[in-house]
Amino acid sequence: MFFHEDTRDLFCDLMGVPGDYEILYLQGGASFQFTIIPMNLVPENSTASCIVTGGFSKNAYKAVKILGKASLACTTEEEGKFFRLPEPAEIDIDPKSSYCRITSNNSIFGTQWSRYPDTGPTPIVCDMTGDILSRRIEVSSFGLIYAGVQKNLGPAGETVVIISKSLVDRANDGPPDILSYRTEVKKDSMSNTPSCFAVYIMNKVLLGTVLGIHDHKKDKRINFIGGEDSAA
Ligand SMILES: Cc1ncc(COP(=O)(O)O)c(C=O)c1O
Repeated sequence: MFFHEDTRDLFCDLMGVPGDYEILYLQGGASFQFTIIPMNLVPENSTASCIVTGGFSKNAYKAVKILGKASLACTTEEEGKFFRLPEPAEIDIDPKSSYCRITSNNSIFGTQWSRYPDTGPTPIVCDMTGDILSRRIEVSSFGLIYAGVQKNLGPAGETVVIISKSLVDRANDGPPDILSYRTEVKKDSMSNTPSCFAVYIMNKVLLGTVLGIHDHKKDKRINFIGGEDSAA
């Protein structure tokens, strides 16, 4: 499918995704990832360290806990509310954990990591639903990034996942095909009928973004060359 690949290329260009990452389009919304990430990426005798800074990261933590794989690295909850991000000294990452999970932008309370936490050798898994493509980030600092596309990229129900090939290589064999990153990578996100319309709309949004950036740069060049200031 042309637009399937074209969307991926546009997205990789805009995000600056390095070659050692895979891109997946998955259905089920961002919340679906709360469960399938630990199913795929936490092996026996390991955990997922969770930094809880808002309602969605709390839900994600609950999902990992149900699977018996959670380790709470930190929570900033006070009387049911989340008004701040943690100081580095408050974060306690389980050395056995296979990843550390964070939410980039807390959509409900409005906190956003300006600098992501230093998790040492533990890869970061980041929910970027609230701020994907709203600023430049270094993809290579993350093991996995996902975003429900409904905020910045397209219609609800679709989720884009950027996953490092090394995490795919060490993913668990356990999950059935429909829940398996490894299968989705092998099948190019088409292990069942893909959500073509959502990917098509995402393509249009990304294309509009590329053209917008191009026009913006062109305008700047015209202003610069034309020298609005010097002409005055
Ligand atoms: C940061 C974050 N994570 C997860 C979700 C849940 O997304 P979904 O409704 O696609 O499951 C949202 C909601 O938009 C969100 O802002």
